[in-house]
Amino acid sequence: MKLDRSIYQQRRAALLAKMPANSVMLIAAASHQSRNGDAEYAFRQNSDFYYLTGFNEPDGLLVLKPGSTSLSVLFTQPRDRDMEIWNGYRAGPEGCVADYGVDAAYELKEIDTQMPNLIDGVDQLFYPLARKTSLDGRVKGWIESVAQRVRAGAAVPKALTDSDTLLHEMRLFKSDAEVELMAHAAEISAQAHVTAMQECRVGMNEFQLEAIIQSHCMKSGARYQAYTPIVAAGANACILHYIENDKPIADGDLILIDAGCELDNYASDITRTFPANGKFTAEQRAIYELVLKANIACIELVKPGLNWDALHQASVRILTEGLVELGLLSGDVDALIDSGAFRRFYMHRIGHWLGMDVHDVGSYRVNGEWRDLEPGMVTTVEPGLYIAPDDHSVEARWRGIGVRIEDDVLVTATGARVLTDSVPKDPDEIEALMANA
Ligand code: GLY
Ligand code: MN
Ligand code: MN
Repeated sequence: MKLDRSIYQQRRAALLAKMPANSVMLIAAASHQSRNGDAEYAFRQNSDFYYLTGFNEPDGLLVLKPGSTSLSVLFTQPRDRDMEIWNGYRAGPEGCVADYGVDAAYELKEIDTQMPNLIDGVDQLFYPLARKTSLDGRVKGWIESVAQRVRAGAAVPKALTDSDTLLHEMRLFKSDAEVELMAHAAEISAQAHVTAMQECRVGMNEFQLEAIIQSHCMKSGARYQAYTPIVAAGANACILHYIENDKPIADGDLILIDAGCELDNYASDITRTFPANGKFTAEQRAIYELVLKANIACIELVKPGLNWDALHQASVRILTEGLVELGLLSGDVDALIDSGAFRRFYMHRIGHWLGMDVHDVGSYRVNGEWRDLEPGMVTTVEPGLYIAPDDHSVEARWRGIGVRIEDDVLVTATGARVLTDSVPKDPDEIEALMANA
């Protein structure tokens, strides 16, 4: 499933309309990444570049210039018979114009001659400033080239501006077509989690459960995961970014799976936690029900106008109250919240924007203040509790329990739509699903 190609031209037009007069924006494609020796990771396009082009080849550069006749220009790798025999089809500049709708396209080898002309005399040059794979060095070279021609009337850009504010604010708000794509990715992932619960057996290795998740997603049309899955048995669930996924699953373990596929470069992001043998112990169920209470209560709060931080604070209060009731924390709830005592068990925030990147772009604060939710935003809601296996401040029966329950939630005009609700999270439903597998 892919977005209609016409969307990319519409997005460029919308962005060009937001750019100030006499400015230029540069957005670079990703490059292949080395894994080891001459083996490479599967290519994943830069999300900003793909958002504006739908073009999935490496190393290109998109140039946007607003004006009475606004301009979209792509620099790209050339057609090359030998390279195409070894590595696959290339659109080349002609294909970029014909199939991707840009006004002009050039081979990459022309970039250093063309770019100084394109940025000569602009007031503002937008690009992602100072990133790991940054254009900084190349932009400096192009500006130096312009500077050498000032006596011939050339003028260097007056300001360099980060492109994120304009572009990422657009990406934060999802159109109906984007929402349907994300809902489809979420549904594939939800069924993958269901299958993992059904097929889990004590004695399997964590990565064999990972294989079930990946296999289900691929068979359902999603080639890639949006991030490396976390498949954590027992106390491994207390390691937040556990991706080793290589330990055997023991009787009595809880299993935390955080996995979601991507479709046409849009992510899903689901976590479910379930007992390996199909039955929660009393302690596991107590922690699980508390996390579920926070998950459900927070999803119920989601609607336009809700402050982003209020959502997090609601989860903090519910989890802290519950931890006191269970005897895992002691003292006054307000004091435990003020002192941050809950962070020993709940060390992350309630969620994050979701879109083309799993931790999607878009600011969480505006003018220094936490922003309110608005229709079209998609956020995860993912409370969790993690009791370290060596936490001797709690009774031994609690140690090594890690639970997170994560859903993907669209803010609608009137409330919320949960994109991940076809995978069970009620503990009785999970036990019934596993008993009948
Ligand atoms: N899967 C990454 C996260 O939940 O934030
Ligand atoms: Mn998440
Ligand atoms: Mn996740």
